[in-house]
Amino acid sequence: MNEIAPSPEGHVKEGTITMDAGEMRCDANPSSPTAPDPSCVVRAPIGLLAELTHRCPLQCPYCSNPLELEKVNVELSTEDWQKVMREAAQLGILQVHLSGGEPTARRDLEEIVKTAAEAGLYTNLITAAVLLKRERLEKLKECGLDHVQISIQDVDTQAENADRIAGYKGGSAKKKEVAGWVRELGMPLTINAPIHRHNIHSVEAIINYAVELGAGRVEIAHVQYYAWALKNRSSLMPTRDAFMAAARLVERKREELKGIIVIDAVVPDYYAKYPKPCMGGWGKGIINITPSGRVLPCHAAESITHLEFDNVRDKPLADIWLNGDAFQKYRGTSWMKEPCRTCPRREIDYGGCRCQAFALTGDAANTDPACSLSPLHEEWAKVADVESHQSPPAFVYRRPGGATPKPAAEKTPVSSDA
Ligand SMILES: C[S@@+](CC[C@H](N)C(=O)[O-])C[C@H]1O[C@@H](n2cnc3c(N)ncnc32)[C@H](O)[C@@H]1O
Ligand code: SF4
Ligand code: SF4
Repeated sequence: MNEIAPSPEGHVKEGTITMDAGEMRCDANPSSPTAPDPSCVVRAPIGLLAELTHRCPLQCPYCSNPLELEKVNVELSTEDWQKVMREAAQLGILQVHLSGGEPTARRDLEEIVKTAAEAGLYTNLITAAVLLKRERLEKLKECGLDHVQISIQDVDTQAENADRIAGYKGGSAKKKEVAGWVRELGMPLTINAPIHRHNIHSVEAIINYAVELGAGRVEIAHVQYYAWALKNRSSLMPTRDAFMAAARLVERKREELKGIIVIDAVVPDYYAKYPKPCMGGWGKGIINITPSGRVLPCHAAESITHLEFDNVRDKPLADIWLNGDAFQKYRGTSWMKEPCRTCPRREIDYGGCRCQAFALTGDAANTDPACSLSPLHEEWAKVADVESHQSPPAFVYRRPGGATPKPAAEKTPVSSDA
């Protein structure tokens, strides 16, 4: 996914397990029951994606959260998350991305931000913004919040379309208001816009809108087809022509807006020649923690059914990062099969996405079918072509326990403690 950009360098701060030149060995925690693997040298992760809750008042049909959303009664406590923040800083993590679900649905967000900031972490709030009040944003800033990323569905002049996509009436206007507060408070702002068939015509307008809102960065985030997005693929998939036109436009806007705004764009897998280095490589730079504390190498890793995940309630984060089965399983390149095993790109894209390989081939160690060298690639890419030319079925909106379509609701109630 596009929300975190791992550093190719990695980084290790002073801490209990710091090793030379930013490297750690898997046996760094002597209490680990896992036998040390002397060949396994690991850098400290740079980023932590903390999914504080799966509660959310929006219902985006492209949502990357799992179909089985975790309930409020299994969520980590305030103290658990505070412990995670301290352990993350000790491990050498630099940035924490507070995400969800909707992170502002947690009443203790301020306490979590404060602890993260005190531990020396750079804090980024990834939010749909609709639950925020100005006083709360001010409080979050006081607590040490460094950066805000607001996701949008379309521009303000297409508010009806935006609200239809989000399944939340009035959302577009509220997001604009919150973006204004972020800038008034002097905080850096990123606008994230997942792009699909229902808003790809707005890409230029979205970039201009991000400039108007005062964002320093805009993410043209072509939807990645996992979880709810996979369920809604036939509704969401744009045509290749529409994608190519959007890609050319992004290039033109990058030139035009150089020095004004940074434009990130993630190519949709279905129209790429080679896959993305998913999460910058499995177990290489990013840790994802679910609302209940399960520690994942990527947000979709639970879809690989044979993997077992540790929980921050049971083990130190450093131990899980270094020795956890799920992290070890596809770390590096030794697990690869052909054609990846001998491919010159194997340390560039790490064979693509393990979750996609598992979903489409039944073996997560196979080459991601997004790669043109995969024997399944052509058949797979044809799906996008066919679906994008059919009339789109109704959205299956993202909601707990619900995979049935429902019209956009006014302020859909969220089980929130905010
Ligand atoms: C899962 S959301 C949680 C945070 C918050 N609720 C929000 O939407 O901003 C995290 C980020 O991922 C983006 N996103 C969600 N599903 C996506 C997908 N399938 N492909 C690309 N980006 C996606 C959202 O726009 C948001 O920026
Ligand atoms: S439904 Fe939308 S707003 Fe809610 S978590 Fe998913 S992407 Fe974010
Ligand atoms: S064969 Fe594997 S390593 Fe080579 S480009 Fe394709 S996915 Fe990447």
